[in-house]
Amino acid sequence: MAGKVVAILGATGVVGRQMMDVLEERDFPVERLVPLASARSAGKKLPFRGGEVEVVEATPEAFEGVDIVLGAAGDAQARELMPEAVARGAVCVDNSHAFRLDADVPLVIPEINASDIATHKGIISNPNCATIIGLVALWPLHQVAGMQRVVVSTYQAASGAGKPGLDELVRELGCVVAGEDVGETSPFAYQLANNLIPQIGGFDADAYTSEEVKFGNEGRKICHLPDLRVSCTCVRVPVMRSHSESITVEFDRPISPDEARAALASAPGVKLVDDPAALAYPMPLDAADQDLILVGRVRRDLSAPEGVHALSLWCCGDQVRKGAATNAVQIAEHLV
Ligand SMILES: NC(=O)c1ccc[n+]([C@@H]2O[C@H](COP(=O)([O-])OP(=O)(O)OC[C@H]3O[C@@H](n4cnc5c(N)ncnc54)[C@H](OP(=O)(O)O)[C@@H]3O)[C@@H](O)[C@H]2O)c1
Repeated sequence: MAGKVVAILGATGVVGRQMMDVLEERDFPVERLVPLASARSAGKKLPFRGGEVEVVEATPEAFEGVDIVLGAAGDAQARELMPEAVARGAVCVDNSHAFRLDADVPLVIPEINASDIATHKGIISNPNCATIIGLVALWPLHQVAGMQRVVVSTYQAASGAGKPGLDELVRELGCVVAGEDVGETSPFAYQLANNLIPQIGGFDADAYTSEEVKFGNEGRKICHLPDLRVSCTCVRVPVMRSHSESITVEFDRPISPDEARAALASAPGVKLVDDPAALAYPMPLDAADQDLILVGRVRRDLSAPEGVHALSLWCCGDQVRKGAATNAVQIAEHLV
């Protein structure tokens, strides 16, 4: 396979560093890696394939000769620089929110809608991390019974807020026991250690946060289900890595917990961990540093009215890997 010149926009961040590891692990055909970040990081050395690569400031000219860009920076940098990369002939797989809902940008989870990749016009978006984790778990059940309505609560790790989030939780766990001690560079409004923060992003007129509306808006696009109804509550939890989700889902047709477990057991990207008698259920520590979405606690929703086919379940996934870096590299693999 011909090697590609691959740039990572945001190479020094949590997702960017993980992308470099995933490219290496999956033996992606990288002829040359171009790590891009802010001017602050220019000249910094990052490990790659047993050697080192030097970080370059992300300017439009830095994309000359680049075949594939993996985006791991914020919305503003993506909006400014991805079109510059496309104008220079690159195809971009972007992790930010910037283009996800644009009509001409495919939004892709390869286990669900890999065929949408072919429709790209230079930019492909990676979905929100909580959306990826939840939908990889729900998609096999949708194939059996057709999902109609999803009620989901997420328990999102500190590293979901990038390096500043991770650094803040490490700092707090080291020195903060109680009180209102929030570090100067903390991305969180309140202390996270010993706490839960039921806000990720700003609030809209319906009192949902920006993170909460992503699950529905992105899920409808990825699954090609314009009528899918979703209510989501997102909570930041003092976990370093891996998001967890409690999901109740209503279906068009009956589906038993055993049928659901059978579908999950053979689904790509999923590992069924569901043996309550043996205390086997998904937990973020077990989901970290690997790519499968762990799904368990599958059970009938006892509150569902007569005639409503509903299940509840619990899932965990490494949001830096499958929720970001691995999903992006999987999309890039389809490109080559
Ligand atoms: N963390 C997650 O779990 C996760 C999951 C899914 C999606 N995402 C998305 O992935 C993206 C990256 O998130 P992250 O968590 O990796 O954030 P992060 O750790 O804060 O890293 C941000 C990266 O962006 C770079 N950057 C900042 N300003 C820049 C500029 N003006 N020009 C070029 N590069 C600049 C930073 O470079 P410097 O080091 O030079 O500042 C750094 O490499 C975000 O869009 C985020 O929403 C994150």
